[in-house]
Amino acid sequence: MNEEQRLNSGLLKPGLSKSAEEKDYSHYFESVYTPPSLKDARKRGQEEIKYHDDFKIDERFIGMGKGRKFLIRTYGCQMNEHDTEVMAGIFMGLGYEPTDTVEDANIILLNTCAIRENAENKVFGELGHLKPLKQRNPDVLIGVCGCMSQEESVVNKILKTYDQVDMIFGTHNIHRLPHILHEAYMSKEMVIEVWSNEGDIIENLPKVRHGNIKAWVNIMYGCDKFCTYCIVPYTRGKERSRRPADIIQEIRQLAAQGYQEITLLGQNVNAYGKDFDDVVYGLGDLMDDLRKIDIARVRFTTSHPRDFDDDLIEVLAKGGNLVEHIHLPVQSGSSAILKIMGRIYTREEFLLLVRKIKEAIPGVALTTDIIVGFPNETDEQFEETMTLYEEVGFETAFTYIYSPRDGTPAAKMKDNIPMEVKKARLQRLNQLVNDYSAKAMKPYEGEIVEVLVEGASKRNDEVLAGYTRKSKLVNFKAPQSVIGKLVNVKITAAKTWSLDGEFLGVVEKEEVMS
Ligand code: SAH
Ligand code: SF4
Ligand code: F3S
Repeated sequence: MNEEQRLNSGLLKPGLSKSAEEKDYSHYFESVYTPPSLKDARKRGQEEIKYHDDFKIDERFIGMGKGRKFLIRTYGCQMNEHDTEVMAGIFMGLGYEPTDTVEDANIILLNTCAIRENAENKVFGELGHLKPLKQRNPDVLIGVCGCMSQEESVVNKILKTYDQVDMIFGTHNIHRLPHILHEAYMSKEMVIEVWSNEGDIIENLPKVRHGNIKAWVNIMYGCDKFCTYCIVPYTRGKERSRRPADIIQEIRQLAAQGYQEITLLGQNVNAYGKDFDDVVYGLGDLMDDLRKIDIARVRFTTSHPRDFDDDLIEVLAKGGNLVEHIHLPVQSGSSAILKIMGRIYTREEFLLLVRKIKEAIPGVALTTDIIVGFPNETDEQFEETMTLYEEVGFETAFTYIYSPRDGTPAAKMKDNIPMEVKKARLQRLNQLVNDYSAKAMKPYEGEIVEVLVEGASKRNDEVLAGYTRKSKLVNFKAPQSVIGKLVNVKITAAKTWSLDGEFLGVVEKEEVMS
């Protein structure tokens, strides 16, 4: 669908009045939003994805930001962080300057996350805080974008309750930011542009990356896994992969600019390339090509165990710039729970995959995500998660209490487990996670590790901090001049979440590539 067709079809409707109570918007929502619906979402997949490599800021908008400052608050995952980098690139292209201070900003964007209820509550809280600012300074523009904007219930709530908001746009159209801003300046009414269907792939978007040491690179967008608890397939649309040549070119450029570490991004990176109908090329092939680029480290996130194939394991085992840390979310150790989560693997299949990975990549660090308190999870099923954690020996984990998401199948399940029980389980699991983290740190004492130095430690200006290939945080004293470099550090003390060490020297380039 081109821009004009979108306009005509009602997908683009600027100019919605802010006095929401007075009007009936039901027709508007029908035409603009698809509320999260498994039935509708599963219908997707027929349309061909188009690649556009001619992104350009329309000349009439250049200079729009002259004398104006922008501030973007980012919530949620790396995908959102990276979208923020793209939006910052667009703002700068329009002539805006960045600011960290709310009071100085002429435009404030909240790039939101919908993954759990508390993520959404943070955003509503922030919108509440911004109200007095908007009253004091009606010229400041306030926008909501990101995953929450893709939810009908959220947009409804903003319309009814948060009249300080000037614009709402979703995850599929951030490249339309110049047009959306233009509309917001031109009209006194709330501008809403949310596309329910996923967008095409837009290449050549400008980016202002956070720092010049590590960079995120999208390799695919969306997710088709439809885990029954998860909102992402609705907020991010269907899986679509960037072409290998575009990814490789972007990473070569980053290497040439001096970046040392790349993290490939996707909600389910193991499905990379499955949507290509002209070539057989998967994540294993991509990693094998990236191995040949002169950049110190390449990581990826996030893996789905189901699609983690032998090809990829074989390539990762070659090492080089491919690090030996894999984040492999398991969610639960119970096959029965995994089944109703729609994860499409059993406890045994997961353990088999872990065995294969450990055999191929000796000393690999595995980390994971776990949800406790899925509807009707029994004590025994929770214990299976605890034993799986030990059996795998994960080095750390992100742990969550299940949060029902409107429109997902799990949200309709009856749940007989009281919140106190869920909280107690989370506490026990977190204790285990702490113990295993400490256990993973201990053997480093006396060892020499390679650290990519990121900057001063958060707690102490005189101490520098960086990460090892296996994502262990290391603190040590060294001259500021080593920031951005790979250095050798001798570990003197292991803590639960970090290592302390003594700086030995900068790693010579030949060593890195050997
Ligand atoms: N695509 C990634 C993760 C995306 S969300 C993957 O599949 O691994 C990050 C984590 O949030 C998930 O791994 C899961 O542990 C958690 N999560 C997702 N939906 C949730 C929900 N409704 N309640 C609680 N945690 C959830
Ligand atoms: Fe959500 Fe990840 Fe499952 Fe996709 S694979 S539905 S993003 S948990
Ligand atoms: Fe949140 Fe959207 Fe990421 S829901 S976790 S910001 S994909």
